Amino acid sequence: MKILIKGGRLIDPGNQIDDRMDIYIQNGKIRALQTASPRRSLKDLTEYIQIPADDLIVAPGLIDMHTHLREPGQEYKETILTGVQAAVAGGFGAVACMPNTQPVNDNQSVCAYILNKAREARLARVFPIGAISMGLAGESLSEFGEMKEYGAVGFSDDGHPVMNSQLMRRALEYAKAFGLPIISHCEDLNLSQNGVMNEGPTSTWLGLRGIPAAAEEVMVARDILLCQLTESRLHVAHVSTAGSVQIIREAKKRGLPVTAETAPHYLTMTEEAVVGFDTLTKVNPPLRTREDQQALLKGLKDGTIDAIASDHAPHSSLEKEVEFDRAASGMIGLETALPLTLQWVHKGALTWAQALAKFTVGPAGILGLEGWGRLRVEGPAHLTLIDPALEFEVDVQQFRSRSKNSPFHGQRLKGKAVLTMVDGRIVYNQLTPNLE
Ligand code: DOR
Ligand code: ZN
Repeated sequence: MKILIKGGRLIDPGNQIDDRMDIYIQNGKIRALQTASPRRSLKDLTEYIQIPADDLIVAPGLIDMHTHLREPGQEYKETILTGVQAAVAGGFGAVACMPNTQPVNDNQSVCAYILNKAREARLARVFPIGAISMGLAGESLSEFGEMKEYGAVGFSDDGHPVMNSQLMRRALEYAKAFGLPIISHCEDLNLSQNGVMNEGPTSTWLGLRGIPAAAEEVMVARDILLCQLTESRLHVAHVSTAGSVQIIREAKKRGLPVTAETAPHYLTMTEEAVVGFDTLTKVNPPLRTREDQQALLKGLKDGTIDAIASDHAPHSSLEKEVEFDRAASGMIGLETALPLTLQWVHKGALTWAQALAKFTVGPAGILGLEGWGRLRVEGPAHLTLIDPALEFEVDVQQFRSRSKNSPFHGQRLKGKAVLTMVDGRIVYNQLTPNLE
């Protein structure tokens, strides 16, 4: 099939392109990228299916580098199929999935299982992240080499910190041998113990136990010291505090191989959202303050934070419709991540190129995803088309995700992915449904 995406505003931050372009696609590859020309004769283009994109932004296929797909083991929350359905509807052509499944993804057979299911689904590409420690128990390292062979693109105990500094040191050294990053969930459990929201006047007032910003920051600092010791790549997951941003900024200034991500909910909500005891606002790390939010935005702008990732964490009503203290942490995000981030673009706090870089060239570079992150003639046609003016109301019942735990239900947002293409195949299309 030949497809021509005509006249869209291509924003490809990795190639510093922001221009109206015609994109020619054939056999899954980008055949040509040409400055859009309204005059070009259409005669010789008859064999192309044309997608008029004058009112759209075209971006390299978006990547969500931090997703929880829950399969194997918790298919009542999400399966690989429903997860990738949600991904492509959110504009993501690729997702990296965290290993806290049941069984844990700490070996080649779970990696292979995930990749098989993803291949069957033929929607978003799935890149597994292997566990740092066997069973996420924080005691012994899992087989990094074996998992890399079966497609792992990084290692993480996400959901749990690696409390043992010696194990973390060894993990960094071991990962270095394979050229893959360690993705750290930074939380000192002795400081966060039993906490359920950000520590501060609001937690005191609500009578909920707090998690201090320092619970995250001491581990960011420790991991950066270990990164310095081992000269191995460290990626800090879901950065939520101003202090973490500052520590990472300084580490980058010193030339250390550190990267970082934050999540859309830290950019758009604060601890104030917890006031009604809505368990949908419970997430780990917790929603923080306005000052933290401003620091995260600054970190995104100056390059301290390289990526925005959904931290899509599906939970059923069984885990959420309970007391705040007992509720599971996490919120779904695949179908809201882009529109939430775009709110800052509409307000002028981020440019389009800055926002899209965090979903494209940023994560592709961190995980080393060949063919992703930026467009290349003769490279795979992974693309996301975004309608910047499309206004909609978030309705979890319409979501592809099997879980509905979003605190954004009912909010009006502007800007949404309308077409997602992976390897030249249209895998999501709300633009011209007859093409699908
Ligand atoms: O809120 C969270 N939920 N934070 C994590 O680190 C893990 C995640 C989950 O797996 O539910
Ligand atoms: Zn985490």
